[in-house]
Amino acid sequence: MMGHYGDFQNEIYGAGLAGIIPQWPVDFATLKARAEAAMSPSLLNYVQGGCGDEHTQDSNVSAFHHWGMVPRMLVDTTTRDLSVAALGMNLASPLFMAPIGVTGLCTQDGHGDLAAARASAASGVSFCASTLANDPLEAVHKACGATPAMFQLYTPRNPDVAASLCQRAEAAGYKALVVTLDTWVTGWRPRDLNASNFPQLRGHVLQNYFVDPEFRKLLPQPPEADPRAAVAAWMGVFGKVLTWDDLAWLRGLTKLPIVLKGICHADDARRAIDLGVDGIYVSNHGGRQANGGIAAIDMLPAVAGAVAGRVPVLFDSGIRSGSDVVKAVALGADLVGLGRPYSYGLALGGTAGCVHVLRSILAEADLLMAVNGWPTLKAVREAGAQRLGG
Ligand SMILES: Cc1cc2nc3c(=O)[nH]c(=O)nc-3n(C[C@H](O)[C@H](O)[C@H](O)COP(=O)(O)O)c2cc1C
Repeated sequence: MMGHYGDFQNEIYGAGLAGIIPQWPVDFATLKARAEAAMSPSLLNYVQGGCGDEHTQDSNVSAFHHWGMVPRMLVDTTTRDLSVAALGMNLASPLFMAPIGVTGLCTQDGHGDLAAARASAASGVSFCASTLANDPLEAVHKACGATPAMFQLYTPRNPDVAASLCQRAEAAGYKALVVTLDTWVTGWRPRDLNASNFPQLRGHVLQNYFVDPEFRKLLPQPPEADPRAAVAAWMGVFGKVLTWDDLAWLRGLTKLPIVLKGICHADDARRAIDLGVDGIYVSNHGGRQANGGIAAIDMLPAVAGAVAGRVPVLFDSGIRSGSDVVKAVALGADLVGLGRPYSYGLALGGTAGCVHVLRSILAEADLLMAVNGWPTLKAVREAGAQRLGG
């Protein structure tokens, strides 16, 4: 029999007998506290901060507490299967790493994207690589090894650069194109504004553009020779406003499955599927883009209901633990994205720290399923989750 994710706890307790305690914490609260002490103030603000007074981002997390699940007994769960097939990927679990545009900066060496990709290779957890990266998407894909990866597209305003990024992602071997809809303009982020810090304007995480043949055509000199002009050109290219009318154009850019990230309304999900989209990604960008919203997990059931199994449903925003992952599956997600916690893992321990965070979350999810009588994700889905109180 194959091992289970939950076996990680035996490893930890076993090592304890030899006097070894885990190098990194297994829970989010301690992980966050440790990362706060390790990260530079500007990076920490950028990763932790959100829009406005951060009520939406906090609700994303706290809302998981008003969903509960009822265990079933007398079920043999000695063997669990968390595997998922979606978007042409066969994955060992529903967990994936959501795209985070400063992943590159999260490790001391500035190659955090490669570190995250190596964590994906080591753990089997799929990586959705951001357009905003310190290493080109080709190198990042290579570092993912045998684990299937997705590429997140911030659609450039320049159609040739947009086409080039899509073609490069396809040629590199990514399995899906995740098109982010909610970020053509940056939301109002007081922590970053108070420190006047926006990493891209300092030339960070723009490697996918700087190596791009179509982007380079827009510059009189290569980015290496005149980085400031390259950043200015990037500002001119970033942030195409996508509308329904653009979907046909996007479809024409790639043969890859297209997933729309940021869909929170059932009607938007239905319309997107009618227009041939291959996946719906429920997310409010971790509360970084708009405040005054509803917790993402509270919006998931209605969107999943509208999708009705026609295409995979991806979800992120507020996942902090294995039980959160299981609840998201119960409420209709096929794939569940981890965001900020893996940045903390990278900051504390590079690839190994990131793998530790992923394994901790998977172990908790697996053990929850074992204890509660759900041997498969189908059983989790059938169990569902109930909204508590109010
Ligand atoms: C620092 C940071 C950078 C992000 N960059 C991107 C990005 O480049 N592209 C994207 O689609 N989403 C980006 N996101 C949003 C994440 O993909 C995801 O939706 C979010 O982190 C989920 O919220 P959570 O981390 O609080 O769970 C970013 C999030 C953070 C925290």
